[in-house]
Amino acid sequence: MKFFVDTADVKEIRELNDLGLLDGVTTNPSLILKSGGSIIEVTKEICSIVKGPVSAEVTATEYEKMMKEAAVLARIADNICIKVPLTLDGLKACKALRSDGHLVNVTLCFSANQALLAAKAGATFISPFIGRIDDIGIDGMELISEIRTIYDNYDFQTEILAASIRTVNHVKQAALIGADVITAPPATLRALVKHPLTDKGLEAFLADWAKTGQSIA
Ligand code: E4P
Repeated sequence: MKFFVDTADVKEIRELNDLGLLDGVTTNPSLILKSGGSIIEVTKEICSIVKGPVSAEVTATEYEKMMKEAAVLARIADNICIKVPLTLDGLKACKALRSDGHLVNVTLCFSANQALLAAKAGATFISPFIGRIDDIGIDGMELISEIRTIYDNYDFQTEILAASIRTVNHVKQAALIGADVITAPPATLRALVKHPLTDKGLEAFLADWAKTGQSIA
């Protein structure tokens, strides 16, 4: 499973990348707003830090304008993945961008049929938004399961990128179902390492080690 971080915070991205944990980055207009920087400059810096796909989202809603924005975003770096919304214009743009050899992430997916359309449009990634589905009282993880079944039924190569991940349990469930990628906020990625018994066990080992009076190096 690949780990993407869902942020445009360059400092966070640098730290996680240094840990060797990152396979890519996802951004969106809200995250760019939060970063306080210009989309071009911030995205360029992110692409210089992380080698894997960096999703940058178009903000136009019509096909022709999306294609113009995509051309600008694609010039930022070779590892740009153009993010388009799951609309008819977005799917048309996805097909055209894939034909031109770009990576494409189809975002704002909330149903299995939408994911089917994205796969037919040749999307590199489909982004079902788990947390936002949970927010309306429906089990978001069920969608990941449905998409996994459909993609496997027809051998679609589109990768399932579980997005809007809010908890470490979301990560575990997505992995159990077989999502190809998760994108999560920095804090959620860091929280994956935590377990009280690890802390307790380490504390006990260190206390006993101190009593030996030895040192390794
Ligand atoms: C993914 O590409 C999206 O940017 C993101 O996961 C949305 O998450 P949110 O629902 O927490 O805003």
